[in-house]
Amino acid sequence: MNSDSTARETPKLDASRLPRHVAIIMDGNGRWARKRMLNRIRGHEKGADTVRAVVRATREFGIPYLTLYAFSTENWQRPDTEIAALMTLLKRFLKSEQPEMLENGIRLNTIGQVERLPADVRETLEAVKAATAHQTEMVLNLALSYGGRAEILWAVRGIAEKVKSGALDPDAVTEDLLAQHLYTREMPDPDLLIRTSGEMRISNFLLWQIAYTELFVTPTLWPDFSKAEYMAILEDFQKRERRFGKTGS
Ligand code: IPE
Ligand code: IPE
Ligand code: MG
Repeated sequence: MNSDSTARETPKLDASRLPRHVAIIMDGNGRWARKRMLNRIRGHEKGADTVRAVVRATREFGIPYLTLYAFSTENWQRPDTEIAALMTLLKRFLKSEQPEMLENGIRLNTIGQVERLPADVRETLEAVKAATAHQTEMVLNLALSYGGRAEILWAVRGIAEKVKSGALDPDAVTEDLLAQHLYTREMPDPDLLIRTSGEMRISNFLLWQIAYTELFVTPTLWPDFSKAEYMAILEDFQKRERRFGKTGS
């Protein structure tokens, strides 16, 4: 990517109306590969290149939080070979991106049941998290072994324990308190959720957090998703009126 094109493109966006948090359901790697008579894993490899480009673009746009749905709790039901390939790719991605993350002020965070990931992947995740812990320009939040229902359930259990022990009054259980027990406790709710590959569903992603998120579904398969399309979606986002249940005036 060259910086000249960035200089030409960026003025179309109103910097004062950028989303603070973009979340993406990166779908369609398998279909991208099938269309080319390739193994699904080649689709995931190409998808990793898109991840790199989208992280870079998000940082350039000045959006402080990016959450990427990389692996769902339901994705554990895929064939072992595909899971293994995804884990290898994740590890490779983390190692290759660490220098650029440090250079660009990006902190790595994860949400999900990370303890279910293979030990070597967890070690790499912890190493990159520790190395980037003091970066403040942007948070790259990877949803790994993530499920929205599991997250809410885990929060409710934590709250129930506190109530049972007498540390918490049931009347003190508010929306804010529940949000404080989610993986995302330190970040704002997403302003914009993008799903690639045309599927009109949420697939157990951020169920609590997307109550008032603007949704955008594109038919583009994730490996074909580009910075230009990302920019066009942000432009569309800036034209929307977010009412949060109130009247327009
Ligand atoms: C998204 O692509 C990547 C993951 C879910 C890990 P898919 O692998 O779901 O691709 P399709 O939906 O089969 O095309
Ligand atoms: C959603 O994609 C999960 C991720 C992108 C990681 P899926 O391909 O797993 O979702 P479904 O099966 O189409 O709902
Ligand atoms: Mg899919």
